[in-house]
Amino acid sequence: MSNANILLGVNIDHIATLRQARYRNAGVELEPIVEPDPVALSVVSEAAGADCITVHPREDERHIQRADVLGIRERVEARLNMEMAATEDMLAFALEVKPHSICIVPENREEVTTEGGLDVLGNFDRIRSIVATAAAEGIASSLFIDPDSEQIAASAETNASHIELHTGAYANAYHTPQRSDEFQRLVDGANTGFSLGLIVNAGHGINYTNIEEVRGLPHLHELNIGHSIVSRAIETGLAEAIREMKALIRGG
Ligand code: PXP
Repeated sequence: MSNANILLGVNIDHIATLRQARYRNAGVELEPIVEPDPVALSVVSEAAGADCITVHPREDERHIQRADVLGIRERVEARLNMEMAATEDMLAFALEVKPHSICIVPENREEVTTEGGLDVLGNFDRIRSIVATAAAEGIASSLFIDPDSEQIAASAETNASHIELHTGAYANAYHTPQRSDEFQRLVDGANTGFSLGLIVNAGHGINYTNIEEVRGLPHLHELNIGHSIVSRAIETGLAEAIREMKALIRGG
């Protein structure tokens, strides 16, 4: 089954994670040699067909830097989706950047990547207030939640226009007997969200294998995918990179 209408948001943070592994403390004097560049590779992603670039600046800037986000906003025409923790500081930064959308995510200080869905019920007033502030600036809001009917209903009540269903539990269960139950939770979540007037996105752990099933989710508007795309880029690009370096070593 094909679905030509589902959009792709490319989560570019994983490029920044690689850069930070080598150049975490790079100053301006090192700038010309710092690689890979998430801004330049966002431009490449857009040219390759990405409908949206997704970034997730953290409080401590451990992956993508605020300067990267501003650079992407300036150089990329595709939509910019900024994932953010529900903090005053991040909201202020979002209002400065003016992305097309924000996606509010839970955030633990030490996590390498987002681990669970947002507790909209438990943080309702704060989330509704952020959604209202963003809307006043023309920024759409999405809430990254588990496919849980109560969280979906609460999301609709915040006046967020979008939800992003957390596909991590499904992706982790892909090779286990729980896969069909986890997929059904996503189907039910997508149907519930749609019936409440929400635009339904999904993301986390989607890869070149499980996409065959994920693309069959009902009412799916956009997928946000990062790790697997960057991994595939390494797999498909490594041989060429080695050939090029060998040729240079030989002076060819
Ligand atoms: N959506 C959200 C809200 C995320 O936090 C992440 C993780 O970076 C993704 C999508 C992308 O997940 P992955 O890198 O596993 O494709």
